[in-house]
Amino acid sequence: MQDTSKNQPSRRDLVKTAAAVGAAAATAVEFGKAPAVVKAAGGDVINFAVIGSGGRGSYLLKHLNKVENGRCIAVCDIKDEASRKGIDTYKLNKAVAYKDYREVMNNKDVQAVIVAVPLYLHYEVTKASLEAGKHTFCEKSLVFKPEEVHALRALYKNYPKQVLQVGLQRRYSKFYQTARQMIEKGLIGDVTHIHAQWHRNPGWTMKQPPGPQNPANWRLFKDFSGGLTAELASHQIDVADWMFGSAPEYVIGVGGIDYWKDGRTVYDNIQLIYKYPKGQKLVYSSITTNSHLPYLNATRPEFGEVIMGTKGAIHLTIGDGEVAMPTGMWFQEPKKAEVAPAGAGKEKPAAAGASYALGAGSKGLPLLMDKDKVTPNDGFIEKEMKFARQWLLQKGVMVSEEDRNPVDVELESFFNDCKTGGHPKADLEVGLADSVAVILSNLAMEQERRVYFNEIDKMGVSGAAKKA
Ligand SMILES: NC(=O)c1ccc[n+]([C@@H]2O[C@H](COP(=O)([O-])OP(=O)(O)OC[C@H]3O[C@@H](n4cnc5c(N)ncnc54)[C@H](O)[C@@H]3O)[C@@H](O)[C@H]2O)c1
Repeated sequence: MQDTSKNQPSRRDLVKTAAAVGAAAATAVEFGKAPAVVKAAGGDVINFAVIGSGGRGSYLLKHLNKVENGRCIAVCDIKDEASRKGIDTYKLNKAVAYKDYREVMNNKDVQAVIVAVPLYLHYEVTKASLEAGKHTFCEKSLVFKPEEVHALRALYKNYPKQVLQVGLQRRYSKFYQTARQMIEKGLIGDVTHIHAQWHRNPGWTMKQPPGPQNPANWRLFKDFSGGLTAELASHQIDVADWMFGSAPEYVIGVGGIDYWKDGRTVYDNIQLIYKYPKGQKLVYSSITTNSHLPYLNATRPEFGEVIMGTKGAIHLTIGDGEVAMPTGMWFQEPKKAEVAPAGAGKEKPAAAGASYALGAGSKGLPLLMDKDKVTPNDGFIEKEMKFARQWLLQKGVMVSEEDRNPVDVELESFFNDCKTGGHPKADLEVGLADSVAVILSNLAMEQERRVYFNEIDKMGVSGAAKKA
């Protein structure tokens, strides 16, 4: 059951908010019988507004219900239907639904803003939010255009005390954090390659009426969207950057509109290869004609990553965040057979002087979050799984916390940072690096050439001044 008590303002809070509510009333839309009252928080709870309560905004509001240290006091969307959905999802008894995000910025009781508008609007809303003195959580991909990369970096220098976090929730997953720690401790050796995919069937479909004039189709048109690269690959390029410990040096790729010939201008399939400075590679695929995921014993569909090192591999997926939660498996490299010197025994190498490996591939060990101890009643597989977990715990690689949805964790962490001045894991530079990767990957596919990541330094520089 939803605890609605956190939504109730105190008398003092109401007095405090009255002026701001009055100022915003001209553009505020009131729903149902609810009067235009902004709910205000006590000391430890951050008052926030959600700008854009479409698919993602509403999903976040559902999760925000469970987050104790933040309280939604306003929702803003240009569509009444979306605002209503947001309000209903958060089960706000009384709230102001805004149509114009600039009015939200004028509301002094809004301490933090969650930006979940389409990508092409991220920069302008994030800028307005920072300039209004709000802590800001912006969905990925942080910015859309090269000039916005430079402009946001410059702008944020003026607001160092405001938290700016990006919605890259894998950074807040225990499984992904565990993988990163395993790499740091050398458990999978030198990490040389990552394969990642996000395969869907059918992927995005054109909404009626078709075409870019229908705002519901924003994802399908290049003027508003970075396509599969921005919407899906961005999460996984960020994972690769994190696991490899750097941004790529260059990217090559092939994209096409090869199946969904419905007038869209973004690719319906993309294949990308990133070269990192130490020679590591990320090999990436996103298609919209099949959803099979060969990783994790094919127990999950669509998306995941395989991190490959000289001593082992890790399979990861974040899951759908609803039914299927994040999970991971660890595969150690099979033991190599010793090369028998010629004539040393009965079992000789297949070819003189050649080394050869015996045996099947290693069985994957789940990266478990459960704390069960091995009991005499456990079967062989169960024991093996639990020993693996204990070993990782002994190494200090895993933490014995319960698994939680990384979206809940990222939001709670955001409000906590707003209160304490803490620094987000998915911060400005993580977000900008991710956006740069999206921009340059699309360029590589469009121009059919190798695009170097340092090209961004010269791209959009003059435009950045105008955006500031
Ligand atoms: N982190 C994740 O896993 C994740 C998942 C899905 C979407 N997203 C991101 O969230 C963002 C939104 O995606 P979505 O799926 O919710 O799209 P959507 O089209 O469902 O919702 C966007 C909403 O923004 C509203 N909007 C448009 N212009 C506005 C304006 N000027 N002021 C206020 N509201 C406005 C629209 O009316 C719509 O309701 C995108 O950047 C997307 O990449 C992130």
